[in-house]
Amino acid sequence: MSIINKNILLGVTGGIAAYKTPDLERKLTSQGANVRVVLTSSAKEFVSPLALQAVSGNPVSDDLLDRDAEAAMGHIELAKWADILLIAPATANFLAKLSHGLADDLLSTLCLATAAPIFVAPAMNQQMWHAAATQKNLVILQKRNIKLLGPASGEQACGDVGLGRMLEPQDIVALLNQGLPEPLLAGKTVMITAGPTREALDPVRYITNHSSGKMGYAIAQAAQNMGAKVILVSGPTHLMAPVNVTTIQVTSAAQMHQHVMEQVKHCDVFVACAAVADYRPMQSNSQKIKKNEQELTLTFIKNPDILSDVAHLPQPPFTLGFAAETQNVREYALSKLYAKKLNMIAANDVSDSSIGFNSENNALSVFWPQGEQILAMADKQQLALQLMQLVAEQLKS
Ligand code: PMT
Repeated sequence: MSIINKNILLGVTGGIAAYKTPDLERKLTSQGANVRVVLTSSAKEFVSPLALQAVSGNPVSDDLLDRDAEAAMGHIELAKWADILLIAPATANFLAKLSHGLADDLLSTLCLATAAPIFVAPAMNQQMWHAAATQKNLVILQKRNIKLLGPASGEQACGDVGLGRMLEPQDIVALLNQGLPEPLLAGKTVMITAGPTREALDPVRYITNHSSGKMGYAIAQAAQNMGAKVILVSGPTHLMAPVNVTTIQVTSAAQMHQHVMEQVKHCDVFVACAAVADYRPMQSNSQKIKKNEQELTLTFIKNPDILSDVAHLPQPPFTLGFAAETQNVREYALSKLYAKKLNMIAANDVSDSSIGFNSENNALSVFWPQGEQILAMADKQQLALQLMQLVAEQLKS
């Protein structure tokens, strides 16, 4: 779906990233959207209403009690006019107001008065983003189906580095275009594995890898946004469970295998994104291994291959595997596609540390028996949506 001919109400709140909103407005209008802007009073400290008015040619609204504005297009009309309400930047304060349903200015009132989908592009200091109160408000907003665009990670205006930067205008526009996904997976059940596994050596030590779970969680959210019923089987991560997704937490490969095999019979699609340990220590000591003068030699035995076991079921679901490779990416991915009898494989070149494991971005080469497609570097949310669109196309054909 695209934003062409869509009426977009752009709400701007008072953060330093507000200076980017004339550019955002221009990018929205140049893609064919009709844009009207509503500013909060503190946003006017960061961006001029005149600049925003000049870009779209439409008057900018900022006051709930403005007699002239109410005579022209009152706030209820404005709320009804909107096909999409986009708030960028959305400050921590505004997100808190939104989560509690306050209506003490024009923008917060419009949020309550509109039936249009609401998208927020948060922008704040990284500490404020991670604050327990902000995170709790985000959970409430996501449960209400308010869509989060970002934030991005990087250097901040205050000098801190971390999550909390507003996404760049072009990324917001791209996500908005994709954030209205068609329900291509409606009626389907999709199971996804995500994150690492931990293989215990003794009660205090384990073997694991650098998977953060971000890619798998993004796929779960994308599938849910496309209308699927989603089951996520996750190894240990620091991520919040995606909203409206059944999430099963596991630790080891054996536990992941058990839960997947129990549930997969009812699934139409299986996506193996987890970085599952291929081997586990033959013995997991019940007591802590003590240091002594000797070398320590450990013997490892093979874990079950979850992906292969699913693909070899008598009636397998559509099965998408991942291949994390540091060399011969195409060759190794294709050999996994055929050896494991998969419908599709997403090859992840993890020799480049800016993508893949524990990064915000990724890039994939996707192969299936009749074709292939490169999904260029993008954040994991965007990429997940593109990948699930490919799956939906293949399922249909
Ligand atoms: O979690 P992130 O930090 O976001 O990073 C994402 C990622 C790099 C982990 C992800 O994009 C990725 O590439 N996942 C696959 C990692 C992997 O273990 O690849 P592999 O080539 O070793 O395994 C091949 C496939 O078999 C994978 O689909 C894997 O889930 C599956 N497998 C492997 C071993 C096993 N015992 N059971 C399995 O199901």
